[in-house]
This record gives sequence, C-alpha cells and structure tokens, in this order.
Amino acid sequence: MLRRSLSRLSPLLSNGALRPLPPLSSLSLRPLRLSSSSQTLNPPTTPPPQEDDAINDLEGPAPRMTVSIDRSGLHNPPEHSHEASSDSELVKHLKSIIRFRGGPISVAEYMEEVLTNPHSGFYINRDVFGASGDFVTSPEVSQMFGEMVGVWTMCLWEQMGQPENVNLIELGPGRGTLMADLLRGSSKFVNFTKSLNIHLVECSPALQKVQYNTLKCAEDVLGEESSTKRPISGISGAPVHWHAALEQVPSGLPTIILAHEFYDALPIHQFQKTSRGWCEKMIDVSEDSSFQFVLSRHPSPSLLYLSKRCKWASAAEVEQFEHIEVCPKAMELTEQIAKRISLDGGGALIIDYGKNGIVSDSLQIIG
Ligand SMILES: C[S@@+](CC[C@H](N)C(=O)[O-])C[C@H]1O[C@@H](n2cnc3c(N)ncnc32)[C@H](O)[C@@H]1O
Repeated sequence: MLRRSLSRLSPLLSNGALRPLPPLSSLSLRPLRLSSSSQTLNPPTTPPPQEDDAINDLEGPAPRMTVSIDRSGLHNPPEHSHEASSDSELVKHLKSIIRFRGGPISVAEYMEEVLTNPHSGFYINRDVFGASGDFVTSPEVSQMFGEMVGVWTMCLWEQMGQPENVNLIELGPGRGTLMADLLRGSSKFVNFTKSLNIHLVECSPALQKVQYNTLKCAEDVLGEESSTKRPISGISGAPVHWHAALEQVPSGLPTIILAHEFYDALPIHQFQKTSRGWCEKMIDVSEDSSFQFVLSRHPSPSLLYLSKRCKWASAAEVEQFEHIEVCPKAMELTEQIAKRISLDGGGALIIDYGKNGIVSDSLQIIG
C-alpha cells in the first residue's frame, strides 16, 4: 500500500526501465534495450550486442588488438542549463545527488529521499491519509482497530504488574488516530491511563501537528513555579512527547512499543542474481534525463544484509529467487526494540502486512 504511494509523488520508476549498467570499457553510454514492463531484468531472448558486452566486460574483457573510443554518445548534461525544466524540487534533488556522487544510488537511498526528505518528502509537508489523501490505513477505517490495540496494551500492562509509570511509544503514528482510539477506549481504566507517558516517533512536522490535534493536546505548565510547558492529551491527561527517532525516547521506564504500518515505510535494498553473483539494483539518470535502474558494478556493502537475510531461509528457498529485497533498517530497528525491552521490560506490537518469507520485489506495483 505504502510503496504504491511512491508513484503518486514522483512517477520516476513507472516505465519499468531496468537496465544493466553499461560496461566500464564502453565509454559511450549508449541506451540499452529496456527489459520487461514488470521491472524485472530478465535476459532478453535476443540481446542486442551492447548488453552482451556489458555482462562479458564485467566478468573480464577479452584481450583486444586495437582500442577505439566513441565519445560521441557521452552523456554530459550542462551543469547550469537555462532550459526550463518540469522536474519537481525532489526530482532535481535526486538527480543532483546522483550527479554529485558520480554514479547511481541505491533503491534504499532513493526511497528514503522520496518519503522523508526534510523539504519535499512524501510524508513531510502534508496529511497523506484518508479518502482525500493517498491511502487509507486500518485505524482510519474503524475506531475498533485502535480500541483493540488498547485492549492488548492494557493486558500487557496488567502482566507487567501494573507499573505506575510506563513509556507508551508509537512509531509512525500517521494522524494519531490509533493512539486517540486507544486512549478513548481505555479512559475508564484510570490507573492504566494515569501511568502513561506517550512518546510519538514521527519524522513529519506536518503530521506531528495533526497528531497534536487528534490527541486534543493542550499546553500544561510543569509545576507551580515553573514556566515550562508540555503538551498533555485532553483525552486522557497523559503527557505527550515527539521524537524523530526511537533512540531519542528516554529509557529507564517499563516500555510498550506500538508500530502499525511503520516497517512498510522503511527503505529497502534490492538485489538481482547475475552470472557474477548477486548485484544490487541502483538508480541512475539516463541520457534522456529520466531515472533508470542499473546494476551495481561492484559488490555493495548492503550485500552483507542480503547474506544475513538468506541465513534465515533454507538454501532451497533462496535458490528459487532471481530478485530479493532486504530492509536493513527494519533489521536494525527490531534489534533496537528487542534491546530496549530487555533493558526496560515491557513488550512490542508490530503490525504490518506482507508475505511471510523472502520478498522478491515489492516495488513492482509502481506503475
Ligand atoms: C504508512 S504511515 C502509517 C501511519 C499510521 N501508523 C497508520 O496506521 O495510520 C507511516 C508513518 O510513519 C512515519 N514515518 C515514515 N518514515 C519515518 C521515519 N524514518 N521516522 C519517523 N517516522 C517515519 C510517517 O510520517 C507516517 O506517520
């Protein structure tokens, strides 16, 4: 659901233009034939010569008697073009990163910029949820969703021995609807609601404001002699804090962590099996200035995450795949959650939707 939203923001990958990286030895960056519209890089049945060259050269060029270099096709766009460009700020920014690096960027870096770039990321400046937005999530469909999560949270709090002070953390709260329904549904259980310190991990300033309103927050003065104010939810009286990342949430209290459709928003790396092993799919700018997929020339550091992911599957399962994607940020976040809970006590409820097993290419729904 979320990854589909990438196409709304910038239909950059909509043509399935997945191409192998041109060989180093071929200094003219000639356009290569596109692969299938399903964005897989299947070898074409009758490959044009330059594609064959690409693969062969990557494995080691055959010795040649003469070398001729055709520079006529070199893609060398002017740095300061005066031609009008229809590119959005984000597209210009992505292209400038690729130009600055002097080469393609990973799908993960592309995805992270598209979703959370501080100036023009998909989530950053607007409310993307609901019928008038780009997608609808379960808490927005029915208040029962947040209420049921509230029942789970209260049961856990009971099992934890009804601590007087608890950090209730939600990762990526969207509009804050889940938390509002949780607080409203549990408002009769005063000991529970009194124990709560709410921490919302949200990168979007626009959504932080929406969450402030959804939780009916108001500023409360801290103590009689203090002039410091802090937001308090009008639904339950619990203090509410915002953070850009989980590591910023103070530890030291028993902790309950909620995440609904948060993992889905974390950037993924994609890999393709080739004759020279697994190569990372990268994003480059083509001669006609559109984005295109290419394959990494060299083993990329994120291959380590691919081998980590493959260790959790049987060799027979891995063998079936030509394409595999991995989400290192999800692995790191899960480790971080596990460490925090083993330190502070508590539990986590992580809800997302997807296949239980190796994922091949969840970006293929862009179109
Ligand atoms: C798909 S939405 C889910 C929203 C909400 N949980 C729901 O179910 O309606 C993802 C949420 O995570 C936030 N988000 C995405 N990437 C983030 C990041 N790296 N750090 C913090 N928040 C992030 C988005 O702004 C948004 O609030």
